[in-house]
Amino acid sequence: MLVVGPNGAGKTNLLESLHVGTQGFSPRTRADAQLVRFGERAGRIGLGGKRGERAVELEVTIELGEGKRAKLNGASLRAAEQLRSEVATLVFTPDRLAVVKGGPAVRRAYFDRVIGRLLPARAPMIIEYGAAIAQRNAALRRASGGYSSRDAIGPWTEQVAALGQQLVEARTEVVAALAPGFAARADELGLPAARMSYDGEPPTAEALEARLERDLERGATGLGPHLDDVVLTSGARDLRSFGSQGEQRLTVLALLLAEAELIAERRGFAPLLLLDDVLSELDPDRRRVLATRVLEGGQTLITATQASSLPMRPAQLLEVSPGLVRAA
Ligand SMILES: Nc1ncnc2c1ncn2[C@@H]1O[C@H](COP(=O)(O)OP(=O)(O)OP(=O)(O)O)[C@@H](O)[C@H]1O
Ligand SMILES: [Mg+2]
Repeated sequence: MLVVGPNGAGKTNLLESLHVGTQGFSPRTRADAQLVRFGERAGRIGLGGKRGERAVELEVTIELGEGKRAKLNGASLRAAEQLRSEVATLVFTPDRLAVVKGGPAVRRAYFDRVIGRLLPARAPMIIEYGAAIAQRNAALRRASGGYSSRDAIGPWTEQVAALGQQLVEARTEVVAALAPGFAARADELGLPAARMSYDGEPPTAEALEARLERDLERGATGLGPHLDDVVLTSGARDLRSFGSQGEQRLTVLALLLAEAELIAERRGFAPLLLLDDVLSELDPDRRRVLATRVLEGGQTLITATQASSLPMRPAQLLEVSPGLVRAA
């Protein structure tokens, strides 16, 4: 489906509402109050669709001061975010380019969200690792300030090593699972010999002990997956530093398409793809390849300012003007 309209008409709003309605949260902001129309007290998103062959109805309501509620086929969910485990949606927005051109923290966060989608049972471990690092850092600062003994650091060192090993394992697993599809989609999109590799080693208690003096001095743990990175390359070039704007966009798209295929394989149906402003910066050949690829998969919504940006006829064309969406 192609959604067209002038700047500021509300295309991104529409796309965002599909994300909130299927995932329970916005890809843009954690401040749910921003999602309610200015001057109103509440907002509601109601969606009807198909998940595989079965009909599914979703509803998310946000009331200022009351929070967020979600229903799936009429039954209330404990938390709106639970929708994530029910319906798969992947989104591209221009902000996502930070996954390629931003610092390692953005990539770590991205691949940790991939773990949440592909290996959901392991997602709690990511939070537990973060908590263990925070506890170890606090213990380091207490010990170096003389408020407690160094012995108090030991148990947190063990925790950081144990959870850190699990986190590196999960990240390495998703990188290995995505890599072949990533290379294939990137190649098709005209980005040859694309690779991704995990840059980091599983931490051990011995390695952490060995740098204890330095960690005490800094008051922070200087080793572990909270400092690792995923390096994205095309041939010998690091795409973070040397990719062109368009190439960085293709990299994010290849990652997204590779994940979409894995989700389709594992869950038995393709995820909903939301591609905001994806066509700008892409040349006509690459637009065509992308359009052909997404037409083969499940449902995709693409926004653009002009219908002519898409080099083929979409199944459905919607025109957005402020406050109004109509089929063209
Ligand atoms: N909570 C809100 N209530 C009312 N209007 C809002 C709210 N949040 C954003 N807007 C406005 O909605 C308008 C449409 O924004 P949107 O980002 O959807 O446009 P767009 O069609 O995607 O434009 P572009 O082509 O520039 O990307 C903006 O002018 C924005 O200020
Ligand atoms: Mg927009």
